[in-house]
Amino acid sequence: MGKWEFLSIKVALSFSILLLLLETCMAGGTPNVGRLNLGFQGTLMNWLDYEGLFLLSNNSAFALGFRPSQDVNKFQLVVLHKGSSIIIWSANRNNLIQSSDFFTFARNGDAYLQRGGSTIWSTDTANKGVVAMELLDSGNLVLVGNDSSIIWQSFSHPTDTLVSNQEFTEGMKLVSNPNSDNLSYSLEIKSGDVILSANYQPPQPYWAMGMDTRRIVDTDGGDVVSAILDGNSWKFYNQDKVLLWHFVFSHNHDEDTTGVAALENDGFIAFSLLQADGNFSASSIPIPPDPCSRPAACDPYFVCEIESSCLCPSALHSCTKSSVSFCDRSQDSVELVDAGDTLSYSALDIIPPSSKTDLNGCKASCQENCSCAAMFFHQSGNCFLFDQIGSLQHSKNGTQYASYIKVLTNASGGANQGGGGTHKTRYVIVIVVIISALLAIFGLLYAGYQYHQKKNKALPESPEESSEEEIFGENLSGLPVRFRYNDLQIATNNFSKKLGRGGFGSVYQGVLPDGTRLAVKKLEGIGQGKKEFQAEVSIIGRIRHLHLVRLIGFCAEGNDRLLVYEYMGNGSLDRWLFRKNRGEFMLDWETRYSIALGTAKGLAYLHEDCDVKIVHCDIKPENVLLDDHFVAKVSDFGLAKLMTREESNVFTTLRGTRGYLAPEWITNSAISEKSDVYSYGLVLLEIIGGRRTFDRSEPSEKSHFPSYAFKMMEEGKLEDIIDGRLKIDEKDDTVSTAIKVAFWCIQDKMFLRPSMTKVVQMLEGICPVPPPPRCSQLGSQRYAVFFRSMSNQGGGASPGTPMSNNDAHLLATSLSGPR
Ligand SMILES: *[C@@H]1O[C@H](CO)[C@@H](O)[C@H](O)[C@H]1NC(C)=O
Ligand SMILES: *[C@@H]1O[C@H](CO)[C@@H](O)[C@H](O)[C@H]1NC(C)=O
Ligand SMILES: *[C@@H]1O[C@H](CO)[C@@H](O)[C@H](O)[C@H]1NC(C)=O
Ligand SMILES: *[C@@H]1O[C@H](CO)[C@@H](O)[C@H](O)[C@H]1NC(C)=O
Ligand SMILES: *[C@@H]1O[C@H](CO)[C@@H](O)[C@H](O)[C@H]1NC(C)=O
Ligand SMILES: *[C@@H]1O[C@H](CO)[C@@H](O)[C@H](O)[C@H]1NC(C)=O
Ligand SMILES: *[C@@H]1O[C@H](CO)[C@@H](O)[C@H](O)[C@H]1NC(C)=O
Repeated sequence: MGKWEFLSIKVALSFSILLLLLETCMAGGTPNVGRLNLGFQGTLMNWLDYEGLFLLSNNSAFALGFRPSQDVNKFQLVVLHKGSSIIIWSANRNNLIQSSDFFTFARNGDAYLQRGGSTIWSTDTANKGVVAMELLDSGNLVLVGNDSSIIWQSFSHPTDTLVSNQEFTEGMKLVSNPNSDNLSYSLEIKSGDVILSANYQPPQPYWAMGMDTRRIVDTDGGDVVSAILDGNSWKFYNQDKVLLWHFVFSHNHDEDTTGVAALENDGFIAFSLLQADGNFSASSIPIPPDPCSRPAACDPYFVCEIESSCLCPSALHSCTKSSVSFCDRSQDSVELVDAGDTLSYSALDIIPPSSKTDLNGCKASCQENCSCAAMFFHQSGNCFLFDQIGSLQHSKNGTQYASYIKVLTNASGGANQGGGGTHKTRYVIVIVVIISALLAIFGLLYAGYQYHQKKNKALPESPEESSEEEIFGENLSGLPVRFRYNDLQIATNNFSKKLGRGGFGSVYQGVLPDGTRLAVKKLEGIGQGKKEFQAEVSIIGRIRHLHLVRLIGFCAEGNDRLLVYEYMGNGSLDRWLFRKNRGEFMLDWETRYSIALGTAKGLAYLHEDCDVKIVHCDIKPENVLLDDHFVAKVSDFGLAKLMTREESNVFTTLRGTRGYLAPEWITNSAISEKSDVYSYGLVLLEIIGGRRTFDRSEPSEKSHFPSYAFKMMEEGKLEDIIDGRLKIDEKDDTVSTAIKVAFWCIQDKMFLRPSMTKVVQMLEGICPVPPPPRCSQLGSQRYAVFFRSMSNQGGGASPGTPMSNNDAHLLATSLSGPR
């Protein structure tokens, strides 16, 4: 949102507040605790200072209030967990209101929301003896009757989330927010089982608790009629309240936690635990268990591969969805294509077959019914037909289905498919030739490498190192050179020329007596003893790679800790990328691409090829340095923390630079090398766009670059993503490769992000880049910050004061997503 838009909202807000004050004796002041009385009425504006919240539970863990939706000018009435801002219930998720619309708890006992005078949501409890509204410590919003009975409760009207002690029974339904394909998912108890379905016409189940092997059976037999989250399990009961099954969704088991199960818009049920102190920990146990076992794993017709990629099945020429349905086409422009017997679909395990027949009968029934889009046939005679289909998966061992997919065809297309057989053999030959060529090349390279190694070993030591040794003495073998503080003081002319300031301290330019240029980093806030420091330095010092800045030496005297690096003539990438209007020199596309590739190689080496796995944790353009020939080298690695392979995933103490942080930093989930992949993705986008991820000097729809870029990609306007100052050959497909890779890297879900090695392969063109999944989700947590800044505005200052740049920036930052 731009500054002016915000300002106009603010002015509108202050007006409405005035009007309201004049009009009615409004509810106001501090939020109510525990209970609201009949006759309450208010709008968002009355509670701006309290982030829109007007009713707190006695324990202050939950609150009822207004929250903005994706469109920050539209609001919903929600119950949320205060500490984490997780919304556990919404009154009007699909029917949003404006900031000036009223919530009313009428004297007749009805609670309702109105928009422009008409009621858009109501509890329908008029004249039923309701005497109060209470928000219980469990998060349940209830309307209490004159005999203390519960007349209405939010727990009986769930939206997409369940919390501890909320009974989920037959007839209730969780529905996810629709994803960008306008597809939503639902959870229901049906036919004695708990079923997740994609809301196609008709709905397609893709997971059932009764089929999940992680479920623990407590009592055999019987139909599930209710389910409840309790501690760290989800428990399932029959009619007589006998526990049939339970499912352990977290290994944590604290007494004081509230479990949360949310049906997300990608079709997963995600579990988390809310601590009483407001902390929140996401569980790593998802439903369904396998990322590929759901229709939204990839776009329709794509095959979900394990290593988080989506491929169009080879039998299909393209997986792009046609806007015309098969029924609108003539019979002979539609063809049922054999997709082989290695594919499967998530619904197959769960739904009953459409018919029992043989393969030909099955094919015929799909061909005859114009709305049939895909069919699967099992030897047992089971024939499955689908009108709509999500992404496919590889068949699990044991069950093989013959799969056929309907495609649109035309004269030339038909001929092509006719020649499918010879096509295949041709492909095989080409592949064999390529593989043998590659093997030969690798063989040669390896031999060369061995020879080189031997030669290197034969030499005494590199001249550079020995000269340093002569000057400064005491070189422990394997360790980088130890420098004396005095020598570094002289080399840097008493730290007079500052090159920059990073997260760990300032960097100074220096030169050795022999003319070698240095970059000397004075570390700050490193509370480590000499020994530990030396141990870490020795590890960092041993890491050598073309795309990593080399550590030459170090100094540890008294409290001083310094690192001595090779000097990079062209400084850091940000200096070249974000120059505005300085015309003279710009990085051209080839240079940028090689910088992107080099950075990826450096990171891949850190993640996968070192003795100890190193997660960088602070990838940003400032930490990508360029040598005299613009070769990219990653700097500052190993400083955040060294991570051994054993302790990966439990890294939570240090934080990288705001702006490039992966969502798991915010949600307190485990940090891994995939967090670097995320930051790399943002840097890659910045390299492509020549601009910062968030730039408030841009018009509002462009200010958050990833969202804008994704939209442009979907609309096929790649040229709007690329730095306008670049001249790019239209046939150069490295541009679209880089863009797609960037979107794979910035997926919210860690497992969807590729490894850095894979990134390198994709950028090098060794392996294809599938179309990236949608990055539709933006966590709800960002809105907490939105409110904080909004009420900072309205709070102390008088309404209508223009907002300072600083505030605008805060707001803008909060809207740029959870980073
Ligand atoms: C909140 O606490 C008050 C005072 O202890 C109590 O009377 C009331 O019933 C509680 N309300 C709820 C909703 O728990
Ligand atoms: C409680 O509400 C019911 C339903 O409106 C009404 O019939 C009854 O008289 C009320 N009781 C009292 C004590 O107000
Ligand atoms: C999404 O689906 C809803 C209901 O199924 C429909 O009303 C709406 O128009 C759809 N939106 C888009 C963009 O297709
Ligand atoms: C909650 O988080 C804070 C800060 O992140 C931490 O200091 C505290 O120990 C955490 N509490 C629990 C119970 O984990
Ligand atoms: C086939 O046609 C019938 C009736 O027109 C329809 O109900 C059904 O959904 C269609 N599709 C399949 C896959 O059977
Ligand atoms: C797959 O096959 C292996 C060996 O035959 C077996 O141990 C494993 O349980 C099978 N997995 C599934 C999911 O059926
Ligand atoms: C047939 O399809 C191909 C692509 O599959 C397309 O290039 C061609 O124009 C189409 N021909 C006709 C006659 O529609």
